Order: sequence, then C-alpha cells, then structure tokens
Amino acid sequence: MIMIKKIAQLFMFLCLALAMQSSFARDVSLEKNQIVLTLNHGGDGSAWGLSECSGCHVLRNIHGNAPKIKGIVQQTGYASCAGCHGQNGTTIKRECVLCHNESLLPKKPLMQDVKNHNFKMQEDSILNDKDCLACHYASDMDGDFEPAVDLKDYDLKGALDLPYRNGSEFCLRCHNKNHQQAGYEIQVRFKRDPLVMMAINYEHIDMHGKRLGEGNRTYTGLREAYEYQTTVACSDCHAMHGTHNEKLIVDRSDAGMSLLKDSLRSVPISIDTPGNNYAQLCVTCHDSEEVVEESELQTGNGLSGVHQASGSCVECHVHGMAAQTGL
Ligand code: HEC
Ligand code: HEC
Ligand code: HEC
Ligand code: HEC
Ligand code: HEC
Ligand code: HEC
Ligand code: HEC
Ligand code: HEC
Repeated sequence: MIMIKKIAQLFMFLCLALAMQSSFARDVSLEKNQIVLTLNHGGDGSAWGLSECSGCHVLRNIHGNAPKIKGIVQQTGYASCAGCHGQNGTTIKRECVLCHNESLLPKKPLMQDVKNHNFKMQEDSILNDKDCLACHYASDMDGDFEPAVDLKDYDLKGALDLPYRNGSEFCLRCHNKNHQQAGYEIQVRFKRDPLVMMAINYEHIDMHGKRLGEGNRTYTGLREAYEYQTTVACSDCHAMHGTHNEKLIVDRSDAGMSLLKDSLRSVPISIDTPGNNYAQLCVTCHDSEEVVEESELQTGNGLSGVHQASGSCVECHVHGMAAQTGL
C-alpha cells in the first residue's frame, strides 16, 4: 500500500515537472522567437519582479538549446540577462554594448565608424543601449536577421498593423509626415525633406522604391543578384550602425547591399561620397552594359560602370525627384 502511494506520489511529481516544463516552453524559446520574460516567469509568476537572476539560475546549466549565445553569456555573466530577457518587471538595465562591441562581436553589427543612426543628426555620438533598444526591442538573437522579430514593432497609426515584411517598412514608421512616433518626432528642414517624405517617395516616386524601373534605359545594367522590377531596401544604401559618410551612406559593401553576390560583397568594396558624387555607391550595384559618358571610368573603388562618374549626381538623382530618373 505504502509502495503504491509512493509510486503515485512520484507519478504526480513527474506530471507536475512535465507540466512546468511545457509551460516554460510556452513562454521563452527560440522556436517561438520570443525570449522576453512574461508575467508567468517561474511557471506560476512567482519569479516575476525579481532582479537577482543569480539567486535561482546557474550560468553553467542554462542555454543548452542556444549554442550561439551559451559561451558569450557565460563570459559576460549576470549583467547580460536583462538585455535579452527584458527587465522582468524591475528597473534593471538592459545592456547590449556589453556584448555588441569591437572585441566580442566585431562584425555583428559593423560599427567601425563615428556616424550612425543615433536619432540626432547634429551629433556624432557612439550608439548606446537606449539607441539599440529603440530599434531592436525584443530580438531573439538567433543569428538570423528577421525584420518582424528583430526590429521594434512601431505601430502604423490608424491602419491595419501587420508585422513588417521587410526592414524598409520599419524605417517608414518614423520617416513620414503624418504618423511619426512619440519621442522621435522629426523637424522638417526644407520643402520635400526626405526625412519626412520617404514614405511617399518610396511608395510612389523613387525608382528604388515601389515604382518599377524599365531596365532598358541608356545606362542599363545591374550586378548580380540585383534585378529590375524589384525594390531596394533602405539599409542596402544607409548604414544604421557605423559609417564615415554623410547622410549615413554605407562606406563598405558588406554593411549594405544585402543581395550583392557574396564574392563581391565580402571583398568588401569601399564607398566614399565626396561632394555629392555618389558614383562609388551607385557602381556597387549598377554596371552599364554600354560604354557611354565616362562609364568606363574607374570610380575610385576598383569598379566602373556608371555614367558621368566624375561629377556631382544630385541635380538629377535625389529622393523624391520624379523628373529625370531620380533615385
Ligand atoms: C526566485 C527564483 C528566480 C529568480 C530570482 C529568477 N528566476 Fe528565472 N526562472 C525561475 C524558475 C523557477 C523558472 C522555471 C524553471 C527553469 O527554467 O529554471 C525560471 C525560468 C526562467 C526563464 C525561462 C522562462 C520561460 O517562461 O520559458 C528565463 C529566461 C529566466 N527564468 C530568466 C531569468 C532572469 C533573466 C532573471 C533575472 C532578471 C531570473 N530568471 C530570475 C526562477 C527564478
Ligand atoms: C544573448 C541573449 C541572451 C542572454 C544575454 C541571456 N539569455 Fe537566456 N535565453 C536566451 C535564448 C535565445 C533562450 C531560449 C533558448 C531555447 O530555445 O531554449 C534562453 C533561455 C533561457 C532560459 C530557459 C531555458 C534554459 O536554457 O534554461 C533561462 C532559465 C535563461 N535563458 C536564463 C538566463 C539568465 C539567468 C541569463 C543571464 C545570466 C540569460 N538567460 C542571458 C538568450 C539569452
Ligand atoms: C535606427 C535603428 C537601429 C539602431 C539604432 C540600431 N540598429 Fe541594429 N539593425 C537595424 C537594422 C535596420 C538592421 C538590419 C539591416 C542591417 O543589418 O543594417 C540591423 C541589424 C543589426 C544586427 C544584425 C547584423 C548582421 O549583420 O546580421 C545586429 C547584431 C544589430 N543590428 C545590433 C545592434 C546594436 C547592438 C545596436 C546598438 C549599439 C543597434 N543594432 C542599433 C537598425 C538599428
Ligand atoms: C550576452 C551577449 C549579448 C547581449 C547582452 C546582447 N546580445 Fe544581441 N546577440 C548576441 C549574439 C551572440 C548574437 C548572434 C550573433 C550571431 O552569431 O550571428 C546576437 C544577435 C543580435 C541581433 C541580430 C538578430 C538575431 O536574431 O541574431 C540583434 C539585432 C541583437 N543581437 C541586438 C541586441 C540588443 C538590442 C541587445 C540589448 C537589448 C543585445 N543584442 C544584447 C549577444 C548578445
Ligand atoms: C523610431 C524612429 C526612427 C526609425 C525607426 C528610423 N529613423 Fe531614421 N531618423 C529618425 C530621427 C528622429 C532622425 C534624426 C532627425 C533629426 O536629427 O532631426 C533620423 C535620421 C535619419 C537619417 C539622417 C541621418 C544623418 O545623419 O544624416 C537617415 C538617413 C535615416 N534616419 C534613415 C533611416 C533608415 C534607413 C531607417 C530604417 C533602417 C530609419 N532611419 C529608421 C527616426 C527614425
Ligand atoms: C543596392 C543596390 C543599388 C544601389 C547602391 C543603387 N541602385 Fe539604382 N537600382 C537598383 C535596382 C535593383 C534597380 C531596379 C529597380 C526597379 O526596376 O524597380 C535600380 C534602378 C535604378 C534606376 C531606374 C532604372 C530604370 O531602368 O528605370 C535609376 C535611375 C537608378 N537605379 C539610379 C541609381 C543611382 C543614381 C544610384 C546611386 C546614387 C543607385 N541607383 C544606387 C539597385 C541599386
Ligand atoms: C544631368 C543629369 C544627370 C546627372 C548629373 C547624373 N545623371 Fe545619372 N542619369 C540621368 C538620366 C537622365 C538617366 C536615365 C537615362 C535614360 O533614361 O536612358 C540616368 C541614369 C542613371 C543610372 C541608372 C542606370 C540604369 O540602371 O538604368 C545610374 C546608376 C546613374 N544615372 C548614376 C549616376 C551617377 C553615379 C551620377 C553622378 C556621378 C549621375 N548619374 C549623374 C541623368 C543624370
Ligand atoms: C539606392 C540607394 C538608396 C536607397 C535604397 C535609399 N536611400 Fe536614402 N539616400 C540615398 C542617397 C544617395 C541620399 C543623398 C541624396 C538625397 O538627399 O536624396 C539619400 C538621402 C536620404 C535621406 C536624407 C539624409 C540627410 O541627411 O539629408 C534620408 C532621410 C533617407 N535617404 C532615408 C531613406 C529611407 C528611409 C529609405 C528607404 C525607404 C532610403 N533612404 C533608401 C540613397 C538611398
């Protein structure tokens, strides 16, 4: 009799353990792309609101299912927890630069230069944790960049709020005229300022946006794997994390140009933009099939294939320009 009772007890315990296990799986897991703690923390919510992670979790025992991060979490310790798992209902700091820096993760992301998207155009200050969080609130850090998971979900005010299909939709939640985000309002500098006109430009005017190119103009030709009749991502041309170029134009192909054939992209091709001459940017994707108007001229980064390669481009190619061929 005692024996049966013991077995029943053991069985109950196993069930309970299993039930708890499955409830953990429900909340935090890579499979669900969800690693921020919720009110259920601890299985029944008993661990919500506590700030000393070390009190209950042993570094060595966690992250068996997350090989990409196990080592670096052991190295950086308990100061790292809230960066990924959120504040757990407390005010503990969420740190990012603790890991995302020159020595621990030098390429993820590339932050090699002083200009970046720090939300203050007048200032070239280094990105801090608060800036990271403004763009990546709940990244799952699985090594794959997925816009709908890894970029903060700013709502599209007054419209159906579907998940992002690409990174450009994220940019346009702020870079628009009528539905900017609280805390990130943008001052208009001049008429048709791209800072606020990009939503309209990208939707209706720009050749790199949704307006379809012809692919049969005088200087036609694109490098692999770019194609006509497609859109180009904002972050293919603009660096968020680091560049030396004005207007946050990428300064190396591997910081943008996401579709470029890897053997070229990873060289990387360097990009300078002196005096509104964007030849080195454009030539990284464009490569004129015909030799016309200096298109055989080397732009300075090893590549040739854009017309008028030595002059300024902005009378004819800027965002929001419907005449000529714009951008
Ligand atoms: C009082 C003990 C306690 C404290 C303190 C605590 N936890 Fe937990 N935590 C638990 C228990 C119990 C579970 C469920 C069993 C397990 O996975 O270890 C859990 C589960 C988790 C999970 C998986 C949750 C899920 O729903 O899948 C994460 C992630 C986690 N804790 C992170 C943290 C972090 C980060 C801190 C510090 C901010 C912290 N914990 C503080 C007890 C605690
Ligand atoms: C770089 C991001 C990252 C950091 C930093 C991090 N975690 Fe995690 N953690 C994860 C991911 C991703 C998972 C989900 C793995 C899975 O799918 O099982 C996870 C799962 C967990 C779990 C539940 C599953 C398990 O492996 O036990 C616990 C508990 C946990 N983390 C605690 C912590 C604690 C405590 C810290 C600080 C020492 C911490 N984590 C720091 C990303 C992180
Ligand atoms: C203005 C928004 C913005 C800010 C601020 C920002 N990021 Fe990003 N981040 C992006 C976008 C968009 C991408 C995807 C395109 C790309 O890789 O540039 C990205 C990509 C990444 C990637 C993946 C890179 C890769 O090559 O796979 C990492 C890692 C990352 N960001 C970390 C950070 C960290 C850490 C910070 C703070 C130091 C930060 N980001 C600040 C917008 C931002
Ligand atoms: C414990 C170290 C650690 C901390 C703290 C940390 N990360 Fe990461 N993060 C990683 C690692 C490791 C990867 C995966 C890199 C790889 O292998 O591609 C990653 C990947 C990313 C990515 C790329 C998308 C993805 O899913 O892989 C983004 C974005 C990112 N982290 C942002 C942040 C932000 C924002 C913070 C602070 C809130 C932060 N990280 C804190 C270690 C960390
Ligand atoms: C949360 C809102 C927000 C998001 C999301 C956002 N931006 Fe911005 N962006 C701003 C603000 C605010 C400024 C600075 C305006 C100022 O200082 O007057 C800015 C400035 C810029 C600038 C000018 C920077 C300079 O130094 O010349 C560019 C280019 C830019 N953003 C591109 C992008 C791109 C591309 C994305 C998406 C990958 C993006 N932004 C996402 C709010 C945002
Ligand atoms: C990241 C790759 C990339 C970069 C950099 C780039 N382009 Fe493009 N460009 C494309 C792609 C792809 C298309 C085709 C878009 C379409 O057909 O809808 C295109 C189309 C165009 C068109 C329209 C062609 C047509 O047939 O109608 C013009 C004009 C143009 N680009 C000019 C420029 C200029 C000027 C620059 C430099 C300031 C530049 N591009 C930089 C990829 C790029
Ligand atoms: C005087 C105006 C003017 C200037 C200056 C100018 N362009 Fe153009 N560009 C054009 C026109 C017009 C076209 C489209 C030609 C057509 O319709 O056949 C074009 C097309 C292009 C294309 C698209 C090729 C394709 O895929 O069809 C690229 C790339 C380009 N220009 C790069 C540049 C660069 C780089 C500069 C500066 C170094 C520059 N342009 C300066 C007028 C100009
Ligand atoms: C093909 C490359 C390319 C793409 C794609 C692209 N841009 Fe640009 N962007 C440029 C160039 C070149 C300039 C400088 C000329 C100008 O001001 O129009 C610029 C300028 C800007 C500026 C003005 C910055 C300043 O300091 O004055 C903003 C804001 C901007 N872009 C945002 C965006 C956003 C948001 C997207 C996506 C919706 C985007 N761009 C897509 C190349 C690109």
